[in-house]
Amino acid sequence: MTRTLDRTARIRSAWQAAWDQGRLEALDELLSPGYVRRRGPAAAPQDREQFKDSVRAVRRAFPDLRTEIEEIVEDGERLAIRWRSTGRHTGDFLGVPPTGRPVEVSGATFSRFDGAAVAEEWVTFDSRQLLEALGIVTTTKEAAVEADLVRGVHRKFITGVTVVTCDDDGKPRGLAVNAFASISLDPPMVLVCVQRSSTTHPALHRATHLGINILAADQLDVARTFASKADDKFAPHPWTPGGHGAPLLDGCCAQLEVEIGERLEAGSHTVFTGRVVSARHDDLAPLVYSGGGFFDISQTAPLPW
Ligand SMILES: Cc1cc2nc3c(=O)[nH]c(=O)nc-3n(C[C@H](O)[C@H](O)[C@H](O)COP(=O)(O)O)c2cc1C
Repeated sequence: MTRTLDRTARIRSAWQAAWDQGRLEALDELLSPGYVRRRGPAAAPQDREQFKDSVRAVRRAFPDLRTEIEEIVEDGERLAIRWRSTGRHTGDFLGVPPTGRPVEVSGATFSRFDGAAVAEEWVTFDSRQLLEALGIVTTTKEAAVEADLVRGVHRKFITGVTVVTCDDDGKPRGLAVNAFASISLDPPMVLVCVQRSSTTHPALHRATHLGINILAADQLDVARTFASKADDKFAPHPWTPGGHGAPLLDGCCAQLEVEIGERLEAGSHTVFTGRVVSARHDDLAPLVYSGGGFFDISQTAPLPW
């Protein structure tokens, strides 16, 4: 019983010292030298010094940070801690510049003691709550603008046409996509938006890589095929697998292979982001899509700039 009180009281006082007051040395007394902090499969585990660095970083971003331990349950060498942190975002955090917003995050930490010190912890928290509080993700409350009006706006925006492809267990799959954009050059990253109702969509979820084939001005027939629901869209159009397996169509003016990074659900579509892993282009003019029609850009007059 004394031990229970000891551990619970030590966690409460070390957390308050470190998180609320920035006295990181309190963690040296609580955590063993070989301490490991696990934050789920996507993040690398942290050792004691790395954890202290991340507490410093959080405190720089939220100098008025307060962490309240709402409950501690002990079972042998293990403790489960339910916590809630609040603070105002006044410094850079995860690449987000200060927003001045009040932020609240709840989570749970599972601690395993080895003798007097914590040897290992597993931390889980509500990341959606954090993203919403920082304004990175917003749940819209406003009424939507009428779809026809938005469609009219999109018709004023000129794009090229791509065929987004992937290998699906040996079968090439693909669809016409004009919702393609560059995200970053260093590292080179791009995105495409694909409607969830597309028959290619499940294959894009299974795939590790996608191909982006930017159509040349003389590939209207390719656009037509890949904008259809034909059974084997690749049969009339020669192609070869790229170095990373994504189908690359012959005769395109530029092509990328992309390692898929994130699949973000957004409205009726999924946004696939990824890193460019191979690229090529040549002198062919691209096919242009504008206001529902197709154009050959080599027939247009360049404007002085
Ligand atoms: C010029 C053009 C651009 C298109 N852009 C997109 C797009 O960005 N995203 C998308 O999901 N569908 C887009 N489509 C529609 C799909 O290509 C079309 O729905 C296709 O039939 C889907 O094929 P699937 O269901 O076999 O995958 C576009 C069609 C055309 C003609």
